[in-house]
Amino acid sequence: MTDFVSLENISRVFGPNLTTGEKIASKLGATVETRSIHAVSNVSLSVSKGETVGLVGESGCGKSTLGRLVAGILPPSSGTVLIDGSPVIKDGVKATTRVQTVFQDPFASLDPRMKVGETVAEGPIAHGLAKKSEANAYAAKWFERVGLDPVWLDRYPHQFSGGQRQRIAIARALAMQPDVLICDEPVASLDVSIQAQIINLFLELTRDLELTTIFISHDLSVVQHVSDRIAIMYLGQIVELGPVDEVFENPAHPYTAALFGSVPKLVLDDHELVRFDTIEGEVPSPLSPPSGCFYHPRCPLADEHCAITGPEMTTIPNSRSVTCHNYQRQLKQK
Ligand SMILES: Nc1ncnc2c1ncn2[C@@H]1O[C@H](COP(=O)(O)OP(=O)(O)OP(=O)(O)O)[C@@H](O)[C@H]1O
Ligand code: SF4
Ligand SMILES: [Mg+2]
Repeated sequence: MTDFVSLENISRVFGPNLTTGEKIASKLGATVETRSIHAVSNVSLSVSKGETVGLVGESGCGKSTLGRLVAGILPPSSGTVLIDGSPVIKDGVKATTRVQTVFQDPFASLDPRMKVGETVAEGPIAHGLAKKSEANAYAAKWFERVGLDPVWLDRYPHQFSGGQRQRIAIARALAMQPDVLICDEPVASLDVSIQAQIINLFLELTRDLELTTIFISHDLSVVQHVSDRIAIMYLGQIVELGPVDEVFENPAHPYTAALFGSVPKLVLDDHELVRFDTIEGEVPSPLSPPSGCFYHPRCPLADEHCAITGPEMTTIPNSRSVTCHNYQRQLKQK
């Protein structure tokens, strides 16, 4: 399969954005944070047409930032995002409608003052995908596609349940006829029973519409269910990438193993309901990432070399990519 979405050495740094007062205070010796946040560091990733890549990692590791970079909502500090060979951003502005996003909180992402039918049709009319005179029929088509009754097109967001609102947000994204969908925690705010319905809807739509998807979630079981490949992020970098079952069965990066081990488990024979093996150590600040391998202060396999030199990503074609010196050594010994 050929690459459809290509991220080439993408980085995003958030500057301190100091006010004039803060700059003066800093010069006078006051404690003002002047460092930049390295939210995404040198990420390269290729996604094939119709493929779903799940993106996981601890809070603050840069998942949403990476999603926003691919969606063209945020310009990168360096590097390029291409969709089907064309840049997503030109001169700092989103240059395509071919990528759309579904966010975690549908209530926040829908305009409370707009009828939902108008919300779904607004973008397509603005971009010439639908005629104004056909707005209602166009919105109705997408309402039906996501399992909603078009008689509700004249209602407002507050008149729907959380699951229905997320269906409206999906309809709004799909009405733009994208090739690529970025889903950022799309079921995290929903009841468990509703989550399953929305996940099944995603699976059906991505298959039928041949969507290329990046699916961000804290929930490893959701990611395992929906993804073809999984990417594990740590402190702004992808540390492991591979076919989802292969990675779950045999995680190769020490952080992946720790992340999977930290999922609560039901252990009935010990009369224990839940076991929670937390990952050793604190997540370092993206304001000052550690030297060498970013994971070395927490890694049980770290040696002196790991603290000095960061590992390059090693890729086995059609299989795994791993960013770890120890993995590279293991490969050489085989
Ligand atoms: N607009 C911004 N300005 C400054 N810092 C930001 C901005 N957006 C994100 N960050 C910082 O970048 C880092 C990565 O944030 P991001 O939201 O991408 O993480 P995440 O993996 O999506 O976290 P979560 O799982 O909690 O949603 C964090 O340290 C965050 O504080
Ligand atoms: S490079 Fe070293 S510190 Fe980093 S994950 Fe591998 S063994 Fe651990
Ligand atoms: Mg996020």
